[in-house]
Amino acid sequence: MVTLLENPFRVGLRQERTPEPLILVIFGASGDLTQRKLVPAVYKMKLERRLPPELTIVGVARRDWTHDYFREQMRQGIEEFSDGIVSEEIWKDFAEGLYYCSGNMDEAESYQKLKAFLEELDGKRGTRGNRVFYLSVAPNFFPPGIKQLGAAGMLTDPIKHRIVIEKPFGKDLSSAQVLNRIVQKVCKEEQVYRIDHYLGKETVQNLLVFRFANAIFEPLWNRQFVDHVQITVAETVGVEDRAGYYDHSGALRDMLQNHLMQLFCLTAMDPPNALNADSIRNEKVKVLQATHLADLHNLEKSAIRGQYKAGWMKGKPVPGYLEEPGVDPNSTTPTYVAMKLMIDNWRWKGVPFYLRTGKRLPKKVSEIAIQFKEVPLLIFQSAAHQTSPNILSMRIQPNEGIALRFEAKMPGSELRTRSVEMDFDYGSSFGMATSDAYHRLLLDAMLGDQTLFTRADEVEEAWRVVTPVLSAWDGPAEPHSVPQYEAGTWEPTEAEFFINRDGRRWRRL
Ligand code: BG6
Repeated sequence: MVTLLENPFRVGLRQERTPEPLILVIFGASGDLTQRKLVPAVYKMKLERRLPPELTIVGVARRDWTHDYFREQMRQGIEEFSDGIVSEEIWKDFAEGLYYCSGNMDEAESYQKLKAFLEELDGKRGTRGNRVFYLSVAPNFFPPGIKQLGAAGMLTDPIKHRIVIEKPFGKDLSSAQVLNRIVQKVCKEEQVYRIDHYLGKETVQNLLVFRFANAIFEPLWNRQFVDHVQITVAETVGVEDRAGYYDHSGALRDMLQNHLMQLFCLTAMDPPNALNADSIRNEKVKVLQATHLADLHNLEKSAIRGQYKAGWMKGKPVPGYLEEPGVDPNSTTPTYVAMKLMIDNWRWKGVPFYLRTGKRLPKKVSEIAIQFKEVPLLIFQSAAHQTSPNILSMRIQPNEGIALRFEAKMPGSELRTRSVEMDFDYGSSFGMATSDAYHRLLLDAMLGDQTLFTRADEVEEAWRVVTPVLSAWDGPAEPHSVPQYEAGTWEPTEAEFFINRDGRRWRRL
């Protein structure tokens, strides 16, 4: 029997180690992510005593802020978007390690100034030259930022210097390759942490445990038993105030190529040899290499897009995508995408994987559903005159958990069946909320654990799979030619037809 403590997944996925003293340098320090997620996550680690006392944060942005103003902004972020300050004493200690250094991402002098400041802080705070540079900036600043850090000699030590790069990593295969070459010129792969915050979600990591720490599911996890897989990431929000970014990105680049492809990889990959960064990433790359769009000659059978039009959410009217502030009124950017992928390997040959994601859908829900094949011969009557196939659904968020649907005999003298569910609920089983993805990922970057970050070849392979669709959709298109769906509904009718054509239906979640 394997106890919790002996279980290698538990040990590997939850190392209770403390990072070395270091300076976390956040580029884009005046932005939303820093205030809402990054600094609150580090503060939480401080409250949990997961950090060395020397840990220091330096925020970098163009604005002319003082250290005190930066501290004030970060405090507000913790109060508003996290559990609050909790202990004034711990906050005081934490705030003493917060600094601000104004600078311009594409000016060499800014990096010289930053470098001198970091060296000064090494002396004052005992951070020993260890650095984690976090690029929380618009993607057009990634290339100059990385080049300048390299030119300033700030990435020379593969052990002491790390760089965290936010998504999107490129906007198609060739731009991702160019960005990777820029990165590789100034540092080694083991210094690079490409973030996909879905990998920091507890339930996404649990996919590995579920698949590889249990003996009973793996024998069924293949073309012999699985009919198809549906991966859904549905959001209720619209484009919010991000039109400037989103209208050039859209659902395929913003969500599918990264978050959904990661869920896809963890569902479809083979068991890794060990729980370390390279074993896991090798398996993910292997499955991506075998993956292709369902029909490369008829792209409309491989992918379908949609755009939300005005509708109702929670009883209130909401505008359509084209009416949102900052969106080009003739935009053909998709806010919904569904894609059918096939994997040419022994495990999955012939099993379709349907991925879909969209904004302004009726519910915020992310799940992976494995639908098993029907029984070969049905000898029972069901209440609905047809039995439902077994479905294993893994709920990533909310109501994190796993459910298995199967048929059961209905009480009574007749032998009739109905579908029932066996349900595991994270919250009630473990009695605690799952932690924020950035908390986990930032801690891992500080510890030097790359397991939950994407490798250069992995990110390129994911782009390769979707690039034919991107190229087709990026081409000239008539305004208003993208299928529409009303805000607050599940998908355009074209997307229903997309899956119905295969004799299957989208799950109603
Ligand atoms: C981000 C996308 O990466 O993920 C957003 O840029 C999206 O458009 C968000 O809303 C969804 O993340 P989560 O964790 O709320 O599912």
